Amino acid sequence: MSTSRRPLIAGNWKMNGLKKDAKQLASQLAKRMINNKKLAFDMVVCPPTPLLGLVVETLKGSGVKMGSQDSHQATSGAHTGDSSPQLLKNIGCAYAIVGHSERRTDHGEDDKCVKAKAESAIEAGMVAIICIGETLKQRKSGRAISTNRKQLLGSLPEGASAKNTVIAYEPVWAIGTGEVATPAQAQEIHAAIRAELVKAIGAKEASKMRILYGGSMKPSNAKELIALPDVDGGLIGGASLKAPDFWAIAEAAS
Ligand code: 13P
Repeated sequence: MSTSRRPLIAGNWKMNGLKKDAKQLASQLAKRMINNKKLAFDMVVCPPTPLLGLVVETLKGSGVKMGSQDSHQATSGAHTGDSSPQLLKNIGCAYAIVGHSERRTDHGEDDKCVKAKAESAIEAGMVAIICIGETLKQRKSGRAISTNRKQLLGSLPEGASAKNTVIAYEPVWAIGTGEVATPAQAQEIHAAIRAELVKAIGAKEASKMRILYGGSMKPSNAKELIALPDVDGGLIGGASLKAPDFWAIAEAAS
């Protein structure tokens, strides 16, 4: 973590929880945030789509921001089951996760699609959190850096800036497995991502853009990971479902 970049602690709730769980979790985080205004991090939670309205009301005035777990590339139209970036922004999303590996796998989303989604989310006024990451097979065959480079360049929106884009490095083999990247593995990929960003958007924007780590991040490993020079926070799944754990990760970043 560099002092020039404000850490971002993002919770991806995935397809978990009912109304009562979301309300409880959001209100616990809101309370902690209100009581700790001086802590130097940004916090965002990304609930399941049907819970966005409830969560935004619960977070009101706390400073904890809300994001969506996906955002469609089109502004409106015949796309059953999807949500437009305009609606997500309108309901209160400040961020939109795009290109999560679960969407790339479950819904066949490729880099071109992720790029279009990121561009539409930004156009609607949200910050795009673009996920990339290699599989275990790709890592084992020595293709971890090249895979991330390819996904990054293919998914990066036109006009990407530190204000409208966040990159999340999520090694697929670390997601939900309890197996976390070592500090050396994480720093190597984060540095490679930043080097690629320097070429794509220039040194100034690249030095300001936040690159999050995601994959089995928890209170016990967060401090070490977020302390790395090119890790600027986390995109957290399982551990974001418990307020004390998620908060402890945020404290490790401040
Ligand atoms: P876990 O923290 O559960 O490994 O999930 C990471 C993730 O996929 C966040 O988007």
